[in-house]
Amino acid sequence: MSNSDLDQKAKSILIENDQGGYTVPTKGLYPYQWNWDSVFVALGFATFDQDRAWREIEMLFQGQWRDGMVPHILFRKDDPSYFPGPSVWGTDGGPIPSSGHSQPPVAATVIRELVDADVTGQSLDRAAALFPKLMQWHRWFLAYRDPQDLGVIAVIHPWESGRDNLPDWDDALRAVEIADIGPYERKDTSHVDPAMRPQKADYDRYLSIMAACRAVQWDPAEVARTCPFFVADPGITFIFLRANRDLLSLAERLGRVAEASEIRGWIAKMESGAKTLWNEDLKAHVAFDERSGKLTDGISSAAFLALYAGIRDETTMASLQAHFDRIASKVRFLMPSYDPDHASYEPLRYWRGPIWAMINYMIARGFAEAGDTMRAERLRVDTASLIETGGFAEYFSPETGAGAGGGTFSWTSAIWLSWASPTHAEQAA
Ligand code: DGY
Repeated sequence: MSNSDLDQKAKSILIENDQGGYTVPTKGLYPYQWNWDSVFVALGFATFDQDRAWREIEMLFQGQWRDGMVPHILFRKDDPSYFPGPSVWGTDGGPIPSSGHSQPPVAATVIRELVDADVTGQSLDRAAALFPKLMQWHRWFLAYRDPQDLGVIAVIHPWESGRDNLPDWDDALRAVEIADIGPYERKDTSHVDPAMRPQKADYDRYLSIMAACRAVQWDPAEVARTCPFFVADPGITFIFLRANRDLLSLAERLGRVAEASEIRGWIAKMESGAKTLWNEDLKAHVAFDERSGKLTDGISSAAFLALYAGIRDETTMASLQAHFDRIASKVRFLMPSYDPDHASYEPLRYWRGPIWAMINYMIARGFAEAGDTMRAERLRVDTASLIETGGFAEYFSPETGAGAGGGTFSWTSAIWLSWASPTHAEQAA
């Protein structure tokens, strides 16, 4: 397919997955509105329909809970092809049936981008309407995902990280007692090859964590205090730190002086808190299990998001460049979700090695902003080649480039349109 055919195909996937104002990640495997999927999708829509891009994010915030949380899934209608559905989650925190935890908060960053790209200036009104909701959500993260004030954000479920099956969760997950789950039937393995999905032992624990949170009615303070899984994640921490910088820029433009000063405080706290995640042996940021007090021992693609978060001291920069080059010498395509030198690496299983286009986009932005345009461009070119050969797949093998997981994927299409496509890159140059 030529580049313009691929541009057309990407556009048609977004239109096809559009459910009337919100977009499913892919039909079948993920039939609802997912939080960070939707926000990346807005970047894709913005390349041909600004209004539709805003609508995607506005519809996501319609599901915001009374306590400020924006859920990871909004179940706008029942779909028996997905498990676990709303009855398993048993939540009651917001106006739309939903899951009980959140997902990486990329919204402030994308909203800032939509505002920056709009020469008419009209977007600022839509940003102004979302601003208090963003503030509430960010305050919720600090209150309930960093209750000890460490300056890092924890996840209470591997799904909250958006990087479900990462080896970083293995030890913390093993410590979760399997309880109150009863018999259940998975649906994900009927949509894609089970060899690409989490194992049954993982699912038993995913459901056990949900049962433990259900038992405290998803009360956020109780969840933070008692959830059997509570792991500080470099992915969500760096995305949140970055989002706070973009939220600050919005606050300044909107003349929200008090909020701007509040956000500056968050940024300062997180810049120093990120050191908690530094693994000196590996020379990279890793996950930190707040229940056991242990750092994990592997490098995930999220380590590279330090630059995207604005952490660009000499040590971080030099070690990330060295890890980048080492990993590039091991695999054909970048950036694998887990270090190919680690024993837990698997090139095709969900988040244990494969490449995701939107992670590449964020890592590349970080490198570019740090002045390393060579590594940023390598990521863009690799992402474009993966899509050219593997299609608009959910994710890709770093070794063969084969597309895997779900097909006709919304965020892969959006990242193609807004960044990876040579058409876009030429226009941006
Ligand atoms: C799933 O169902 O596998 C999802 O990734 C949860 O967000």
